[in-house]
Amino acid sequence: MTSPVRNGASPPRPRKVTVATLAALKARGERAVFLTAYDYPTAVFADRAGVDMLLVGDSGAMTMLGHSGTCAITMTEMLVFARAVCRGAQRAFVVGDLPFLSYQASSEDAIRNAGAFIAAGCDAVKCEGGARVADRVRAMVDAGIAVMGHLGLTPQSLGQLGGYRVQGKSLDAAERLLADARTLQEAGAFAILLEALPAEAAAYVREHLEVPVYGIGAGPEVDGQLVIAHDLLGSFVGDITPRFVRRYAELDTVIGNAVAAYAADVRSGRFPGPEHCYPIDEADAAAIRARRRIGSAVPRDRSEQALERVR
Ligand code: KIV
Repeated sequence: MTSPVRNGASPPRPRKVTVATLAALKARGERAVFLTAYDYPTAVFADRAGVDMLLVGDSGAMTMLGHSGTCAITMTEMLVFARAVCRGAQRAFVVGDLPFLSYQASSEDAIRNAGAFIAAGCDAVKCEGGARVADRVRAMVDAGIAVMGHLGLTPQSLGQLGGYRVQGKSLDAAERLLADARTLQEAGAFAILLEALPAEAAAYVREHLEVPVYGIGAGPEVDGQLVIAHDLLGSFVGDITPRFVRRYAELDTVIGNAVAAYAADVRSGRFPGPEHCYPIDEADAAAIRARRRIGSAVPRDRSEQALERVR
């Protein structure tokens, strides 16, 4: 039963999603909703909309910073995004994405950098790779950090994969993914994320694991779906359009139209209007007007005046 809100009291803080909540969702067969976020407003809006998990993804290199891939982003940049998202996420479980070379070189690096995400307010971290990062996963888990594994298309190893290619397209490939996923599960990962796999391969991996298995471009038979916020909202600037994306808004058009309308209003003098100006007593206004050099009339259409000057 929820406790009644007393008059004037702020509503109770929603109960935070934890690894136990995520395991319970899986046990009940309920799908978790997982979205990337890199800033405070997106985190607040997503949290209010009931998103269960937010990933502060290294995809922020592309979505937020305009890089052509994910490897360019640094821990310092990731932590700025992570702190902003954690301030906005009251309920959602926040996962910080370990960027390229923040965990590959040593377990000590992995613990320190994962620890920095936890100190920033994240609930867990994510790292890419299977058996080859199992030692790192074990080290982070032993340090008390919840770790999500990431298999399939792993953008930090795009050079090895030969580009953005669908993974797990045969039984052999699905078996290799399952072996990697099992190794991560044994190393203590609380969940596995599968990226860009045929639905059958993802379902196969999920069926053989105990931990929740989430998917981005891995079909419907997983324990929850992740999408990149900019793909969902239509605000990604770039020419990558994955097959698995469904756009729910056209923010590029909305933002472009809003800014163009603002620019037109500024140029024509329609903005700011009287309602945007701070009022003062009429006597004070009259006194100031009387001292003004160009008279009291506010130019109504500055673009026309500008044109007059050009003519
Ligand atoms: O950085 C990210 O958003 C990710 C997803 C693409 C899985 O790692």
